[in-house]
Amino acid sequence: MKKNYSYDDVLLVPQFSDIESRKEIDISASMGNHIYLSTPIISAPMDTVTNQHMASALNECGALGVIHRYNTIQEQLNSVRGVNVYRAAAIGTTGDWQERAMALVNDGNVNALCVDIAHGHHVLMKRALEWLRDNFDNTHIMAGNVATLKAFDDLSDWGADSIRVGIGGGSTCSTRIITGHGVPSLSCVLECAKSDRDAILIADGGIKSSGDIVKALAAGADVVMVGSLLAGCVESPGEVFHRGGLPYKTYRGMSSVESQIDWRGHYSSIEGVSHVVPFKGRVAEVIDKLNNGIRSGLSYSGARNIMDFQTRARLIIQTSAGSYESGTHIKDRF
Ligand code: XMP
Repeated sequence: MKKNYSYDDVLLVPQFSDIESRKEIDISASMGNHIYLSTPIISAPMDTVTNQHMASALNECGALGVIHRYNTIQEQLNSVRGVNVYRAAAIGTTGDWQERAMALVNDGNVNALCVDIAHGHHVLMKRALEWLRDNFDNTHIMAGNVATLKAFDDLSDWGADSIRVGIGGGSTCSTRIITGHGVPSLSCVLECAKSDRDAILIADGGIKSSGDIVKALAAGADVVMVGSLLAGCVESPGEVFHRGGLPYKTYRGMSSVESQIDWRGHYSSIEGVSHVVPFKGRVAEVIDKLNNGIRSGLSYSGARNIMDFQTRARLIIQTSAGSYESGTHIKDRF
């Protein structure tokens, strides 16, 4: 059996650098279909992460927000209409998905549709992508999630412009516990990055820090998708509440009992959990910190942009003692 790795299993080896300021480093990414991001970050289509406020604020930061689909078509359209600049929205592959896609493209002027299902290497995904490609020429089609090179290639051949890579590694996911299926997130990215297709690779799930973003890019991701990193902001959906005098918001997996009850009134097949996250303030500040970390990360490899970084980056595997040392560990000693 082959060993597979998560972000905490690896590190990047520092390399000679002639970069004198982080300002010299360009972390922009192109998604194709005239969608350009000044930072390689996309927010997850989850009901505690991306509504119109989050998507608009992310647009202003040069990132992208995908409006979630856990509502009526009219509610989602209203959200999409409230977003400036790029507009991206999720759909499923059953129920009202075709009507929803038509409404989003024709009335909502979305630039990107995201076919958002848990197991994307599926015949329903094939049918959806083929139908979307027949109906929408200029709309960027994002699809996922997948965990293998074969799945990545198939979704690309079926018509996806960008593909979400990662199954069961998200911070609120219980898919691996419930079903026993999944592939550690870094290995998913390394594997799918071997593809000779042109589709954009989106590393999705399990990204906890700017360091993990840098590792995902090193493994071959073009951009990353994050949930927990952007949950708990002013712009994230949901109210702030206090516990022990400290402010929090709720962040929940879309297959959690709580989410399922809210969007369809009942639950089946629970593959996610609901949790509280500390309130983080404005998303612009969160993105700013992540950008600084990503730029620093590229500079440690002597790279001036993401493509340059991917040719230079040297990933190494660390032991559990190395992984412990890589975290701040003073708290364990005093
Ligand atoms: P992070 O780690 O950034 O992960 O919080 C966000 C990603 O998690 C996925 N997601 C789920 N996966 N059950 C799952 O197995 C769920 O209930 C669930 N909700 C979200 C999704 O890929 C998202 O982008």
